[in-house]
Amino acid sequence: MGKTVIGVIGGSGVYDIDGLENPEWVTVDTPWGTPSDQLLTGTLDGVTMVFLPRHGRGHVHSPSSVPYRANIDALKRLSVTDVISVSACGSFREEMAPGDFVIVDQFIDRTFAREKSFFGPGCVAHVSVAHPTCPRLSDACEVAAKASGIAVHRGGTYLAMEGPQFSTLAESKMYRESWGCDVIGMTNMPEAKLAREAELCYASVAMVTDYDSWHPDHGEVDVAQIIATLTGNADKARSMVSRLPGLLGSERAPCPHGCDRALEFAMLTAPD
Ligand code: ADE
Repeated sequence: MGKTVIGVIGGSGVYDIDGLENPEWVTVDTPWGTPSDQLLTGTLDGVTMVFLPRHGRGHVHSPSSVPYRANIDALKRLSVTDVISVSACGSFREEMAPGDFVIVDQFIDRTFAREKSFFGPGCVAHVSVAHPTCPRLSDACEVAAKASGIAVHRGGTYLAMEGPQFSTLAESKMYRESWGCDVIGMTNMPEAKLAREAELCYASVAMVTDYDSWHPDHGEVDVAQIIATLTGNADKARSMVSRLPGLLGSERAPCPHGCDRALEFAMLTAPD
């Protein structure tokens, strides 16, 4: 059908790809504005890789100011087929401990100050995000994480909050006890929704850095704690990513879950 092109959106602490051949930072312009940064392209095990630092090099974008539409569009323009999101998160589960990775499969989107769709007046589309992540790509991430010796949890609900402040204790308890969320972060939405609109397979690997504020034996979350855990996580994340080309292969078949055909039944506007 075509070639696999793996796109990696790196969160805090993950700023490149290990072992990339012919690395080159390229500038991509989009109708949605400028992406977070230039994109790093190259090949690994014969597969084209594209890396985008979500917050930009130097961490210049806050979660609310990340240009999510430009980022997804830039990946699409570079022919990316599979997007791996790597991000930091807080945990609502004792067993999802700092240092562990969670391959998220559901989201509750509580963000409110971000552009969330490529569609609007003049071109109307409603894609399904009932299953917002790609199981095939998530499988590959799970295998890659295990092979890298990472403690990885398969499945989990990610509460996407606006930030930039962390949650209050009451919010943290509500997300955990009433809403049944497993992890919390500020960046996977609307990224996952936009990837679906762009017909890209999307998997989210959330790296646990803290227990948010609910845990009686851990203090409230702070940035120093997150950075300390992230520094240890970054090498693990890079090791996981470097195994993905070997697992996904260079030849691309249609996605068995239909991520790459999401718009087939989603467009309402009549073609010209
Ligand atoms: N990112 C890392 N830890 C977080 C937390 N506790 N809440 C929101 N975003 C986070």
